[in-house]
Amino acid sequence: MKLLMAYLVLAVISQAQRSMLRSPQDVTQGREIYNRSCTMCHGLDGAVGDRAPALGAARRYLRNSEQDLFDAIKKGIPGTAMPPSPMPDGHIWKIVGFIRSLRATASDSFVRGDAASGEKIFWGKGGCGDCHTLGGKGGLLGPDLSNTGGERSLSYLRDSLTTPRPHIPQGYRPVTVTTSDGRTIEGIIRNENNFSAQMLGQDAKLHLLTRHEIREIVYAKQSLMPSDYDKRLSPAELQDLLAFLSRQARSKGSSRQRGENRKS
Ligand code: HEC
Ligand code: HEC
Repeated sequence: MKLLMAYLVLAVISQAQRSMLRSPQDVTQGREIYNRSCTMCHGLDGAVGDRAPALGAARRYLRNSEQDLFDAIKKGIPGTAMPPSPMPDGHIWKIVGFIRSLRATASDSFVRGDAASGEKIFWGKGGCGDCHTLGGKGGLLGPDLSNTGGERSLSYLRDSLTTPRPHIPQGYRPVTVTTSDGRTIEGIIRNENNFSAQMLGQDAKLHLLTRHEIREIVYAKQSLMPSDYDKRLSPAELQDLLAFLSRQARSKGSSRQRGENRKS
């Protein structure tokens, strides 16, 4: 009986070591091993690859539990190009941790940094509040970030701040409109069709313009969202800001009340 108990305790501990006790360093090592061994098919850092699906993108995964991911990597997926991996189990568990961290939302991840200092940067040096609403105040040109930690992964948030977007998301394309009576309005185009355009001006006003009120629309190629915060902020400031953003999540209780499903 004692032996059985000891065995059970050990089994529980080893399970816990695999998941709960995994440190950020393990995840970082998992990323390194992954980027060394898996990117010939899967993309770098879990992005889409030439020959295999993105492991980190927001899609519906076939394999979500840690054990299923482990098995897929250790044994391969029969009947597909996914090969079994001969590496030690410890390495595979670190990769599993890395893949899980890619899929987790930022609010589910461990994000180091000083969130209170991040909040000051958000409203101050970063100028984020000029364009973004958070907790009911702020600007309107960018998306509301009140639940961004609950929606987006940490890597998504970091990329948003430091890399130019491949394309500007619908509803956020910056434009300069010249009206037929000679006024110039700058802002973003929210909606447009053959007959009219709805734009949000830098003046924070909504402008509804019919086609014959518009002389010219010039579309910008770059999003208004700056992508050089790794240069505008120090590494520590950027980390603090990410710590703050990752905590912007509606409580799980209230999202359940609204009948939404959260990713596990
Ligand atoms: C020779 C190409 C190739 C290599 C190398 C490769 N994979 Fe894959 N992998 C695939 C393909 C193709 C699939 C999709 C299989 C399918 O259709 O279910 C896949 C699927 C997976 C899945 C399952 C995804 C899901 O959610 O269903 C995981 C996890 C995975 N690979 C991890 C890895 C890891 C970790 C490595 C490196 C140790 C690796 N792969 C190396 C081709 C590869
Ligand atoms: C000049 C206006 C402007 C400023 C300043 C600005 N943003 Fe943005 N931001 C935008 C716009 C517009 C978008 C949507 C278009 C896009 O993603 O390129 C956006 C997108 C984002 C996204 C992606 C949201 C999503 O869910 O896709 C994040 C995160 C973000 N901004 C955070 C910040 C933070 C943090 C700061 C301050 C350090 C900041 N922004 C400063 C305008 C701005």
